Amino acid sequence: MKILVIGSGGREHAIARKFIESDAVSDVYCLPGNPGMSNNGIKSVGIDITNWIGMTTFVRENDIDWTFVGPEIPLIDGITDFFREENLVIYGPSKAAAQLEGSKEFAKQVMASANIPTANYQTFTDYRTALDYMTHQSFPIVIKANGLAGGKGVIIAQDLSEATDALRSFLVQQQFNTTEVLIEEYLDGEEFSLMAFIDRDKVYPMPISQDHKRAFEGDNGPNTGGMGAYCPVPQISEDVVTESIDKIVQPTADEMMKRGIPFTGILYVGVILTKDGPKVIEYNVRFGDPETEVVLPRLKTDFALVISKLLQHESPSLQWETEGITLGVVIAADGYPENPVKNITLPNLSDFKSLSNRIDFAGVKLVDKKLVSAGGRIYIMHKSGVDMADAQQKLYRLIADFEAHKTFYRMDIGYRANLK
Ligand code: AMP
Ligand code: GLY
Repeated sequence: MKILVIGSGGREHAIARKFIESDAVSDVYCLPGNPGMSNNGIKSVGIDITNWIGMTTFVRENDIDWTFVGPEIPLIDGITDFFREENLVIYGPSKAAAQLEGSKEFAKQVMASANIPTANYQTFTDYRTALDYMTHQSFPIVIKANGLAGGKGVIIAQDLSEATDALRSFLVQQQFNTTEVLIEEYLDGEEFSLMAFIDRDKVYPMPISQDHKRAFEGDNGPNTGGMGAYCPVPQISEDVVTESIDKIVQPTADEMMKRGIPFTGILYVGVILTKDGPKVIEYNVRFGDPETEVVLPRLKTDFALVISKLLQHESPSLQWETEGITLGVVIAADGYPENPVKNITLPNLSDFKSLSNRIDFAGVKLVDKKLVSAGGRIYIMHKSGVDMADAQQKLYRLIADFEAHKTFYRMDIGYRANLK
């Protein structure tokens, strides 16, 4: 089998690496990919991610059996519909179904129709009206730009002054190219990521994970694309996971069927366990990043065969590691997320070779055959341990051996599992 993965980050590296482990797979290409992936024999394809015609030509010329989409933007823009019209096999939700991530308003409507627990909210387009509403609310309160903002369009305002600043930047300065905000009730509780393969009305959950969105230790500093993750999450009980599947994931799949827009692909639900039970904070229509980098290593069955089965609407065989815990820590450029240092020289790619199953590259490029940073999040390293303390000890030792200048990472990834 020959597989194409679309995307270029740590998530796509983890996905492609898992595919290439399969005995049924001869070649894995990643488009555009990154040079770090070559340590695992993954071939990068120099075609732009927005060049869909170029992609389909590549797929035909290279006899690719099927394509797997990593990031949300092509899904929301309708890449799966485009491939299917071209009679090519692709895994991921349709453009209509991808609105679950692309439009927070659509997601809220789906949840309301299916009685899925989530935060109360109101939508606004007018700055004055929003401000007026806000003066009658209690704090903290959550302000979200509608549409895609790469995890950065969410402000948790502690008081009216912070809320006013957020409204001004979203509605007046239109920082995220949207003219709509959602003002949402603040949900208090432990957060976790629940991902599942969805095939129309069938739901195949993965073990849960937890991301660390803030830049600095103790969950301080600005929101980022994720500074680390771990799987599973021992402080969340099996009962809560079961309740979340029964009250959130299955009803979401069923509601999409009812609306005539069946969901086929990966559904990611960001959940907060409140005192009234699990509630949804967001849907994504693809694998989470960096969650994937710690969840997929725990899949014991052949991932390429799992996706092949799902593409035929058959039940996949899914067996997950049940022992221990897998931890992942992101190494980022100094100044990330606001103003990351550019073009940091990294250790040679060959120096990372012995660790090729412990590392997923994200923002890297080759300049004169040297590995150089190309973005805020550079790579993620991951390792399993018998428990969190063991995983932390082993992983942080590994990371220290490869530390590059002008980079940083959080020293406390996984700390919430130790609070249990
Ligand atoms: P989102 O982009 O919707 O995933 O939001 C980013 C982060 O903001 C989430 O992972 C939560 O940590 C936080 N967040 C979003 N909505 C809420 C909410 N209603 N209550 C509390 N925290 C929230
Ligand atoms: N880790 C959060 C996300 O993938 O959106």
